[in-house]
Amino acid sequence: MFGLWIFAAIAAFFHCVQAQASNGTSFGTIGIKTFGPNNSVLRTSIDNGPINLADQGFIEDFIELLESLNSTVDSNGDPPVKVVIVASALETYFIDTFDIRLFLPPGPINNNVNGTAVLFRFWHLQSLLSTLPQLFIAEIDGVAYAAGNELIFNMDLRYAGPGAIFGAPEAVCGVLHVGGIEQLTSVIGPAYANEYMISALPIEGPRAAEIGWVNKYYESSEELSKEVDALASRIALFPYTAITANKKAIRRLGPTQEQIDAGKTEFFALVQNEFVQTCVLNWLELAGGNESYVSDSEFQRTLLDKLPNVWT
Ligand SMILES: *[C@@H]1O[C@H](CO)[C@@H](O)[C@H](O)[C@H]1NC(C)=O
Ligand SMILES: *[C@@H]1O[C@H](CO)[C@@H](O)[C@H](O)[C@H]1NC(C)=O
Ligand SMILES: *[C@@H]1O[C@H](CO)[C@@H](O)[C@H](O)[C@H]1NC(C)=O
Ligand SMILES: *[C@@H]1O[C@H](CO)[C@@H](O)[C@H](O)[C@H]1NC(C)=O
Ligand SMILES: *[C@@H]1O[C@H](CO)[C@@H](O)[C@H](O)[C@H]1NC(C)=O
Repeated sequence: MFGLWIFAAIAAFFHCVQAQASNGTSFGTIGIKTFGPNNSVLRTSIDNGPINLADQGFIEDFIELLESLNSTVDSNGDPPVKVVIVASALETYFIDTFDIRLFLPPGPINNNVNGTAVLFRFWHLQSLLSTLPQLFIAEIDGVAYAAGNELIFNMDLRYAGPGAIFGAPEAVCGVLHVGGIEQLTSVIGPAYANEYMISALPIEGPRAAEIGWVNKYYESSEELSKEVDALASRIALFPYTAITANKKAIRRLGPTQEQIDAGKTEFFALVQNEFVQTCVLNWLELAGGNESYVSDSEFQRTLLDKLPNVWT
């Protein structure tokens, strides 16, 4: 009887999530499906084409999805989803940069959008990834620059496929990879962090795996997804505490919230500089204007090779 009730509660929860997803509005840019033991693995499919820009709509969809994960618990107090796989629906892009047009006052997109408020929401999204009880696995097989790279470093595991390319363009504009640099440094160490964060050089899957940026590199996209699914299903068999106790113990080593917040304070001070505005304007011009900025282009794919030209 009791067991049946739990099952009914879990089924009701999934029915609700599925219904929202198929509704096509609730998690608008993010498709989901569940599988594995008791359907406790959730695979996402980010579809904010053409480049999976981390814009306001996508950020809100992701927050809504993450907050829904923790809104129901079973009789043990555990949410029904244990493991979340974050993957892209697009061939060439995982998750691209924060919408830099939001840094221009007044924004060219919509003068009513407050870019700072959107940035705060983006930081809320990052903190959900690092504090929710679920295990987050990033499956990267495309461009993960700037915001995309920050998000994967707020997740717990990272696996890369042949299309994966990572990097932090922030140094080009004289700012920092805020909300990701501390986590990245704790994973790859200060020497490589200095190299990649300050040069803003891109890094591809094989080298990323060598230095620990990702846990492993797969030469085939199919194998990548298959192995990630298998790992997630294996973990989902274990008691919830396997994830939460280990995740907490590992995160206790840092970075601390205080260290992360110090980076944000620094970012706000830097972003006031005139050269940041100049950089953003030149960036948009190189991208072909405020509108083409959001299209799939050679410039967007090879952003970190081309971006230093804002200063030439
Ligand atoms: C679809 O989503 C909207 C907005 O969240 C909601 O108001 C509506 O009731 C949903 N429709 C269905 C059929 O679930
Ligand atoms: C924009 O949002 C930030 C953060 O919420 C807030 O501090 C600021 O006052 C807002 N600016 C305007 C012009 O509304
Ligand atoms: C999520 O739910 C768990 C279990 O109820 C709770 O311990 C945890 O504090 C919640 N976390 C967040 C970020 O809401
Ligand atoms: C799946 O759910 C059933 C019913 O609640 C439970 O008895 C079983 O232990 C669960 N299996 C896993 C792997 O969590
Ligand atoms: C982009 O929008 C900004 C702010 O409205 C404007 O100053 C700039 O000239 C625009 N750039 C291009 C290339 O359209």
